[in-house]
Amino acid sequence: MKILITGAAGLIGSHLARRMAREHEVLALTHGDLDITDGAAVRHCVADAKPALIVNCAVLQVDESEQEPGKAQAVNVDGPRFLAEAVRDIGAEIVHFSTQYAFGGEPVARPPYTIHDEPRPLNNYGRTKVAGEAAVRAACARSFIVRTSWVYGSGKNSFLCTVAKDLKAGKTVRAIDDIWSSTTYVADLIERVMAIRGTGRYGTYHVVNDGVCTYYEFALVAGRLLGLTRDRIDSLIEITHERDMKRVAVRPRYTPLRCVLSEQLGLPPMRDWRAALAEYVGYG
Ligand SMILES: NC(=O)c1ccc[n+]([C@@H]2O[C@H](COP(=O)([O-])OP(=O)(O)OC[C@H]3O[C@@H](n4cnc5c(N)ncnc54)[C@H](OP(=O)(O)O)[C@@H]3O)[C@@H](O)[C@H]2O)c1
Repeated sequence: MKILITGAAGLIGSHLARRMAREHEVLALTHGDLDITDGAAVRHCVADAKPALIVNCAVLQVDESEQEPGKAQAVNVDGPRFLAEAVRDIGAEIVHFSTQYAFGGEPVARPPYTIHDEPRPLNNYGRTKVAGEAAVRAACARSFIVRTSWVYGSGKNSFLCTVAKDLKAGKTVRAIDDIWSSTTYVADLIERVMAIRGTGRYGTYHVVNDGVCTYYEFALVAGRLLGLTRDRIDSLIEITHERDMKRVAVRPRYTPLRCVLSEQLGLPPMRDWRAALAEYVGYG
């Protein structure tokens, strides 16, 4: 199968490109190769390449989306629509990623969000991502919308991606203990996305590892998996609070996800987040 990936230099895009290249013909396009906000460029590129599947991994991130609403609309809504329209025109399929920030995150300890919960985004990133989902669905019936949450893997400089490496190196880390979500190991995300695509059942999916945690709990488990003593872990992790962070964009507090469509389709449950983290830190 020929797969075209947009935003291919990002966390998910880069892992996806490497993984898919083992079995498929992959056209991995970075932002420099294709700007998805350029409708004419998208049309020409897709019509020329004629992929069977496009996976859109391009995004404008959370704080940037708050600071630059016009750019957020272009990257998170208009670009996905251009891609979905181009996909429809060649009779292909599209996977488009979205986020737990579709939801409001209240109250804490509520049941995990499913596709039956009404989106209620708190920030412009969430609002444009929800609008982007709708744009893709409206433009292309052969679409898979995949909401995921707190994704980690090698190659990105984010808390979840680097905390294990930092603790191993004896570096102090600051970990937030008052927001919760599902975490997602990028390798598990990719395998599940391809399994979903294989079912041929278009729709909206939630793809995350099982369970819920804070950044602090994630760091704690990473420390344990590395074999550090509790005293050592406590000396390296400085607890901090979301409510004290001076964020550009507000974050929802409690956004674990659950995938009812995967359950209906009989796909096995995603493994627990601790098992996925164990593999990531090398003790799986
Ligand atoms: N990572 C997570 O924790 C997480 C959680 C929930 C949902 N998601 C979703 O997963 C998807 C991928 O996220 P990610 O974490 O892999 O993002 P990422 O690491 O920030 O990568 C996004 C990529 O998109 C590129 N990009 C930005 N504007 C573009 C444009 N106009 N045209 C083409 N490419 C453009 C960026 O390139 P430049 O940097 O060069 O601009 C970057 O390489 C997104 O839909 C996101 O909403 C991610």
